Amino acid sequence: MDRHKILVVDHDKDTAHYICRCLEMAGYDALQAHDGETALQAIRSEKPDLVVLEPLLPDQDGLELIRTVRADPCFVRLPIIILSARASEADKRLGLDTGADDYVAKPFNSHELTARVGAVLRRYCRKNAGTTPPILTEEEDGIMDQGQPNEKGPLVQIEDLTKVYQMGAVQVHALRGVSLVVKHGEYLAIMGASGSGKSTLMNMIGLLDRPTSGSYRIRGEETSRLSKRRLADLRKREIGFVFQQFNLLPRVSARRQVELPLFYAGAPRGQGQAMATRALTLVGLADRADHRPDEMSGGEQQRVAIARALVNQPSLLLADEPTGALDSQTGTEVLDLIDQLHAQGLTVIMVTHDPIVAQRAARVIVLKDGKITSDKQNGKRLVRLVMEANHENN
Ligand SMILES: Nc1ncnc2c1ncn2[C@@H]1O[C@H](COP(=O)(O)OP(=O)(O)O)[C@@H](O)[C@H]1O
Ligand SMILES: [Mg+2]
Repeated sequence: MDRHKILVVDHDKDTAHYICRCLEMAGYDALQAHDGETALQAIRSEKPDLVVLEPLLPDQDGLELIRTVRADPCFVRLPIIILSARASEADKRLGLDTGADDYVAKPFNSHELTARVGAVLRRYCRKNAGTTPPILTEEEDGIMDQGQPNEKGPLVQIEDLTKVYQMGAVQVHALRGVSLVVKHGEYLAIMGASGSGKSTLMNMIGLLDRPTSGSYRIRGEETSRLSKRRLADLRKREIGFVFQQFNLLPRVSARRQVELPLFYAGAPRGQGQAMATRALTLVGLADRADHRPDEMSGGEQQRVAIARALVNQPSLLLADEPTGALDSQTGTEVLDLIDQLHAQGLTVIMVTHDPIVAQRAARVIVLKDGKITSDKQNGKRLVRLVMEANHENN
């Protein structure tokens, strides 16, 4: 079987490596180049089916590279996707004017990237009958048919969810008809007294457990009738979990802890290590990667747990009392980190009983006896944001 070959050009080796890994997991052959000259050589010698290109190259402007490639009759129609950290409209237009076929702004998730790659390849094959169609999984197919990754609808859509636990002869109604919509990029806090159903709701959203009745769609996909295996796949791809207890393994280095989810997903060791290092860098712990939990502070341990939750590039971070076991100073650091991740595009749902912590979220819901009794955009947060914006403008 012919596999499509994709050249990834990014000056940052970790990023190039990560993108290659995503593409390989989606069934493509991937190779990488880190500057324009090597990229051009690779295009000529390897004849890739598609190029994913970061325009900021050390030796030349990547857009110039596209012009050169397009000027060569052999490569006029080579599909090219621009990958830009600047996420600017100008970049996009320039890239598309220069002849790129699509554009992906960072931060992107692996799902979006592979969906776009699939879409471009499929368009290309349609135009060039006789070429091999791209390898696609069913769900990528679904996304592509809409022409865009499915970012338009809400990320989480819950309708009339109930959960009843059977405790011997006694039934515990942990959730009694919860409906909730969470959009991409939201930061939601869930509050409520002990026993009100917060953790149960988080476990449902995190696909760790099934509801008794009701509907839960994530990214539009109904989950209530999925097999265990599909649920686990979906959870691996979409969700990162952080708990009050860090749940780290003793005597295992930070890098290895973070790498483990990838190891279980079947990633080769070298690639897993690179991705783990990247996730640890994201949480500010690159220099502590070889330390074990007992050599770290509580705040550092929770940051390792966050890196582990993020290593698969999930679209949703679920945090159940993430600062519950930390003193207020380190708790603040962890919350600042979650703020940063949210600012970079991660959707966050966090359980807390602390109103000061909840203020970080743009939206707060309150649970009582398994029902939502309040759902508010957080006024104080808006006030703070407005004040900060004014401050920056002055
Ligand atoms: N696995 C379980 N088996 C039986 N009852 C449970 C289980 N998990 C939670 N419950 C019950 O469901 C209710 C909600 O619990 P939980 O979601 O943990 O609340 P919270 O996180 O808000 O403290 C409580 O009455 C709790 O005892
Ligand atoms: Mg709880």
